[in-house]
Amino acid sequence: MHFERYDRIVEYYPSQWPLIVPGYLPILNAMLDVLQARGVLARDILDLGCGPGSATVAIAAACDPGCHVTLVDGSPGMLRAAELVAQRNVREAILGDFTLPDVRERVFGADRYDLVLASFALHHIPDHDKQQAIEAAAASLVRGGLLILADEIATDRPAGWDVVERVRARAIANHLGAGRIHPGFWALETSLSAELHLPFSPARIDDLTSWMARAGLAVGCPLVHFGAALLLGVKR
Ligand SMILES: C[S@@+](CC[C@H](N)C(=O)[O-])C[C@H]1O[C@@H](n2cnc3c(N)ncnc32)[C@H](O)[C@@H]1O
Repeated sequence: MHFERYDRIVEYYPSQWPLIVPGYLPILNAMLDVLQARGVLARDILDLGCGPGSATVAIAAACDPGCHVTLVDGSPGMLRAAELVAQRNVREAILGDFTLPDVRERVFGADRYDLVLASFALHHIPDHDKQQAIEAAAASLVRGGLLILADEIATDRPAGWDVVERVRARAIANHLGAGRIHPGFWALETSLSAELHLPFSPARIDDLTSWMARAGLAVGCPLVHFGAALLLGVKR
């Protein structure tokens, strides 16, 4: 898998992603709500497909000030941006594709983390790779540890009605019309050549739930927002 698409948009990502994915900010905010309701400060964190560290930043208030985060991303620019925001709390910043065995070996390991974040990071990879990543994440959690999986999800089309796609397209059109979407970002995203496109392969919520449960996690899905979902898995 190549990551140039994400490398190109690092500087725009934090301000622009919430405008093109309507569920993104509500779900990031909900991650913090969930962790604060849980009442346990996270100490050893894995941020898988960290991008510019957005999920780590979103939950920072629910982490121990001395916590350590392992950052993983295939895009060098994204990883650098995440390192800059997480600074002294970075345990390791790992550049590479987490579906590949050598990267998996560095990232995962028994009882390594009390919190794993996989935030909008699995929807480009095939389902069997998603399942493998979920299994590896679950195996890397300590007992009682939490997997927070947020992502794009496959949506239903009642009677062929693509309601989610239409709602999302209208939201983007409104942001474009109001000048909220940065022209530089839009030019980069719309000029992406065919070979730089990444597959869009969201899974169904019931498949994600089932893979998490089979990996030994007690699963809940507290939030679904127009094509994006937040799933929680607690290691039994
Ligand atoms: C939509 S962004 C999500 C970033 C961040 N986690 C967030 O919540 O905003 C997806 C990120 O996952 C990374 N990514 C996707 N698949 C990956 C893989 N197989 N290995 C490593 N990084 C991956 C991309 O490079 C990109 O930075």
